[in-house]
Amino acid sequence: MLSARSQVRRVPSYHPPLAGRDGLRLDFNENTAGCSPRVLARLRELGPQDLAGYPEREPIEAKVATFLGAAPSEILLTNGVDEAIHLLCQVYLAPGDEALIVVPTYSMYRIYMMAAGAEVISVPAGPGFQFPQKEVLRRITSRTRLIAIANPNNPTGTVASPEQLQQIVQLASDSAVLIDEAYFEFHGKTLLGAHRDFPNLFVTRTFSKVYGLAGLRVGALAGNPEQIQVLRRVCSPYNVNAVALACLPAALEDQDYIRSYVDEVRSSRIRLEQCLSPLGISYWPSEANFILARIGDVAMSAAFVEYMRSRGILVRDRSSDPGCEGCVRITLGTREQTAYLLTVLQGAFDQLGIAQRQREGALEA
Ligand SMILES: Cc1ncc(COP(=O)(O)O)c(C=O)c1O
Repeated sequence: MLSARSQVRRVPSYHPPLAGRDGLRLDFNENTAGCSPRVLARLRELGPQDLAGYPEREPIEAKVATFLGAAPSEILLTNGVDEAIHLLCQVYLAPGDEALIVVPTYSMYRIYMMAAGAEVISVPAGPGFQFPQKEVLRRITSRTRLIAIANPNNPTGTVASPEQLQQIVQLASDSAVLIDEAYFEFHGKTLLGAHRDFPNLFVTRTFSKVYGLAGLRVGALAGNPEQIQVLRRVCSPYNVNAVALACLPAALEDQDYIRSYVDEVRSSRIRLEQCLSPLGISYWPSEANFILARIGDVAMSAAFVEYMRSRGILVRDRSSDPGCEGCVRITLGTREQTAYLLTVLQGAFDQLGIAQRQREGALEA
C-alpha cells in the first residue's frame, strides 16, 4: 500500500479556522482595511492575455529588490513567506538534522521542519515571552542546520534586538538562520542588509500583512546570492502567479497607504492597551499588528472568542500554543474598527465576568 515517508506521517495537521469568516476579521493579522486602491485599479485593467501566459517573475523580482535596497540576485519572490520557509527546509534540512525554533511561534516552521525529517528543538520563550537569547545560544549544536525566528514574533508580538539576532547568526555559521520579518512595517527594525556580512542569514518579508494582499500570496526572501541561486534551483519557475505579479508594483508604489495604515494600527494598539490595563488583563508589549492577551483559563478564552463571534468580531484563541493557556490574539485594525472592538470587548468582559475575576485574582496574588 502506498504510504508517505515516515517523517511526513508524523507531521500534525494544521487547519487554520478559515471557514465562515464573516464580520470584523481580527483573527489572522491581515490588513483589516484591505489593499491600496491602486492595486484594485490595476486588477481591473487585467485582460485575458494577462492570465493566459505563464507568469514572468524576474522583472518584478528586480523591482522588489530595488525597493528593499538589494540586488536582484539577493532576492527570491515566493508564494507567500510560507513557500520561503518550505524551500529553506527542503534545501538545508536532512533527516536527523536539528532545526531550532523559539516557542510559541508561527506554526508552519515546525510543520515544514518535521516534513523534512528534522528534529525540531523548541526553546521556550522566557518570562513575559522575552527572547531566550542565552538558551538559544546554548541549544545550537554541530547538528543545527536551520534556525527560524519570527521578529516580531507571532503570536506574542515580542521582539529580539538586532544585536541578539546577529549574535545567533554569527555563532550558528554552519546553519541557515531565517529572520522572518512578516510584521516588519509595524516594528521598523530589520536585519536586511546583514546578509552581506553573514552568508547564512535569510530575511523574509510578506505582502500578506500590512499590504493587504494575503489572498495573492507573495513574499520575498533575501539572502546571499550564492544561496539564493541554490534555492532558485528547487523553486517552481511559476511560483508567484500572474495576477500577483501584475499588482505588486502598484502596491509598492503606494507607500502613503502603508504609512497611514501603520499609523492606524499604532493608535489602535495604544487604545486597546488602555482598555486592557485598568481591567487587570495581562497582555504583552507588541511590536506587530496584534496583541496577545490572557483572558482567563482555557474555558474562559473559548467563551470569550464565542461571545466576540456572536457580536460579529473574529479573534483567535491561542490557548493551545505553549505558554498561552487562556490567551487570545486580537488583530489591530483601523481606529474606527477599534472603537467598535472596544465596545464589544466591554460587553464581553461584563457578560463573562472577566475583569472581575482578574481583579479578584490580582487581589489574591
Ligand atoms: C511570522 C509569520 N511568518 C509568515 C507568515 C505567513 O506569511 P505569508 O502569508 O506571506 O505566507 C505569517 C502569517 O501569519 C506569520 O505570522
